[in-house]
Amino acid sequence: MDLVVLNGSPKSDDSITLHYVKYLEKKYPQHNFIKHHVGNKIKSILKDKKKFESILNDVSRSDGVIWSVPVYTCTVPSQLIFFIDRIFDEGYEDVFEGKYCTAITTSAKFYDHTAHNYLKASSEDMGMKYVDGFSAMMYDLLEDDKRKDFRKFSEIFFRYIKDRAKPPKEFFSVQDSDFSYEPRDVRNVSKKKKDYDIILISDHTDEDENLKRMIGVFVKSMKYKVKVFNLHDIEVKGGCLGCVRCVNTASCVYKDQHEDFYEKNIKPADAVVYATKIKNRSLSARWEQFYDRSFYNGHCPRTMGQQLGYIISGPLKQNPNIKEILKSRNEMGLTNLVGIVTDEAEDSHLITDLIQQFSRDFSWSLENDFMRPYTCRREGGHKIFRDLIYEMKFVFTQDHKFYKKHDLYDFPQNKYKTRIKNFFLKILLNTPGIKEKAQEKMTEYMIMPLEEVIDNA
Ligand SMILES: Cc1cc2nc3c(=O)[nH]c(=O)nc-3n(C[C@H](O)[C@H](O)[C@H](O)COP(=O)(O)O)c2cc1C
Repeated sequence: MDLVVLNGSPKSDDSITLHYVKYLEKKYPQHNFIKHHVGNKIKSILKDKKKFESILNDVSRSDGVIWSVPVYTCTVPSQLIFFIDRIFDEGYEDVFEGKYCTAITTSAKFYDHTAHNYLKASSEDMGMKYVDGFSAMMYDLLEDDKRKDFRKFSEIFFRYIKDRAKPPKEFFSVQDSDFSYEPRDVRNVSKKKKDYDIILISDHTDEDENLKRMIGVFVKSMKYKVKVFNLHDIEVKGGCLGCVRCVNTASCVYKDQHEDFYEKNIKPADAVVYATKIKNRSLSARWEQFYDRSFYNGHCPRTMGQQLGYIISGPLKQNPNIKEILKSRNEMGLTNLVGIVTDEAEDSHLITDLIQQFSRDFSWSLENDFMRPYTCRREGGHKIFRDLIYEMKFVFTQDHKFYKKHDLYDFPQNKYKTRIKNFFLKILLNTPGIKEKAQEKMTEYMIMPLEEVIDNA
């Protein structure tokens, strides 16, 4: 079989993920793996049509396609999003249509599922037959059991191709809309207060009328001054290179305006609103590039305590995966997500109402310093990164300092009061006579501490 490997890692041949493919290549010499480093070569692929078309030629001749991709900020590297967007922009879906495909990712297994969802939905949109992918921890390949599973996974994929089997489709196609948002009679709150540092970052172009108008309504409706920036005015030379030199230096190797902008505007802000659009199955690639580059902050939630909001043009409800990514980024950033407004209602009057309510909620959250409690996204994510950073503290030096300083190493075994309490409870609950009585009254005991709070409230 001829299998085209689309390597989304910016690290080209040094990609950890690609080494999983190389393992398959060695194990299954009967198959031909044709690799394209789309992540690393994205600039020239976007510029040079011949290069782009030579990849498409290989795809059209192949029996199957493998996305070999690292997870970046809950999705895939922006370089790959640029590549996939180009396929749709230029109407090359037919080259991929009917091809079998799958995805291999490596990551720390934080929001790997949303990266897989992105790849699967995009592949299905191209009409590909997507066989569920393989999500590995970075070094799973070192373990015998994991290698065995990996080989079995690849055999499923090969079998699907050989048998011409039909994998079930998972995602609905997205219905595009040409709705034009026409706000009317929006009052500009004059004499804007300047008590808070509120910034809005957009990536709209002149053609993004709906987004421009939504931003306009928000800025007018806010009683506080909002500084507006456009990503097109900030020099960002490229996507994150994955070189991870920032883990020690807390600074990016790129010499452009990204870091300076982030340090001077995003970090000190009390509130940030991001205004962007949905393109295919992601937020815009430019936006994702900007976001990936904030990785120079490591795993430290440098925007902790900020109020956060999104103004989005595009079908967010039809893309719950994007919403999930935004919510996860909010929770891991320890920010408060005030809301997400979109133009999906297709009713100008209603959209204006929603934006005005959003601006009132924004002001209220700022004034009251409100933080909505986090969910499993934060609780689970925190534990993944806490353990990772602790285990690799010699690598993640800036993260390690931050975690120590902010008491983020909250391992249960370090909670001495709880340990002592549990020690005595264990003795008590194992004492004959007490044990049976305690079991009878278990639910009563469980609510006792809560009742105490209510009594004292
Ligand atoms: C910018 C950036 C963002 C990342 N985001 C995530 C993430 O959201 N979740 C995760 O589990 N790992 C994340 N990682 C870790 C990579 O997925 C992991 O190191 C992967 O194995 C790299 O693969 P590669 O060598 O093929 O590029 C991130 C790494 C970088 C550089």
